[in-house]
Amino acid sequence: MLKVSALTVSYGSFQAVREVSFEVRPGELVVLLGANGAGKTTIFRAVSGLTPADRGSRIEWAGQELSSLSPRAIVDSGLSHCPEGRKLFPELSVGTNLRLGAYRCHDKAEIQRRLARVLELFPPLSGRMNDPAGALSGGQQQMVSVGRALMAEPKILLLDEPSVSLAPKVVAQVLEAVAAINRTGTMVLLSEQNAYAALEIAHRGYVLEGGRLVLHGPAAELMQHDEVRRAYMGA
Ligand SMILES: Nc1ncnc2c1ncn2[C@@H]1O[C@H](COP(=O)(O)OP(=O)(O)OP(=O)(O)O)[C@@H](O)[C@H]1O
Ligand SMILES: [Mg+2]
Repeated sequence: MLKVSALTVSYGSFQAVREVSFEVRPGELVVLLGANGAGKTTIFRAVSGLTPADRGSRIEWAGQELSSLSPRAIVDSGLSHCPEGRKLFPELSVGTNLRLGAYRCHDKAEIQRRLARVLELFPPLSGRMNDPAGALSGGQQQMVSVGRALMAEPKILLLDEPSVSLAPKVVAQVLEAVAAINRTGTMVLLSEQNAYAALEIAHRGYVLEGGRLVLHGPAAELMQHDEVRRAYMGA
């Protein structure tokens, strides 16, 4: 289980995330909803050890306190982060970008097995393995980015706005793959602005506003919540 308690993250004197507590339980797909600047990326980066949390924050994962671990040790503990904005190497091939996600694995057969699983989840990538990642469509690049995070064979996958700026049909494809990943037992923490599509696949959700959590509950309940409907669904 991932258990975040009283997480506060500051950039200088500005508190971007304030006293945020949430958890992802075994088997769960949890969505973090929030508008631009709400603090989603800051939370993901703090959990992955890329941005330091303020004193008093606790990030517990599988019985360990993560704030004392290096980003590499955090990956080794089974947590994999698919960052906002894909962060691919556009000149390198799709296959190389994917293999980079398995950099801690030295077993060639195992790497092939993981690659095959990624291609099963994202059929549009098969036949593109030797193409430069930068030559792919936005949706396919997002698939490579999620695939690369999966190549670490994580126990929990952190996905920071995987559907941003994709066409609706591609959003559905990417989120369906995320649901499929979760069905195999991988825990998922997903951040999204696309509330409806995300709540459709999530078990539970949390709503962030201005760095604070304002609402949480089962996905089906949040979907009906007036505030969520007004803010995210144009109701
Ligand atoms: N490196 C930084 N230095 C200073 N302020 C930052 C930095 N990164 C983010 N912020 C500020 O922290 C707040 C939260 O930003 P964050 O990127 O976490 O939000 P977000 O929910 O991921 O937004 P988006 O949906 O646009 O990705 C914003 O006010 C942002 O301007
Ligand atoms: Mg962000």
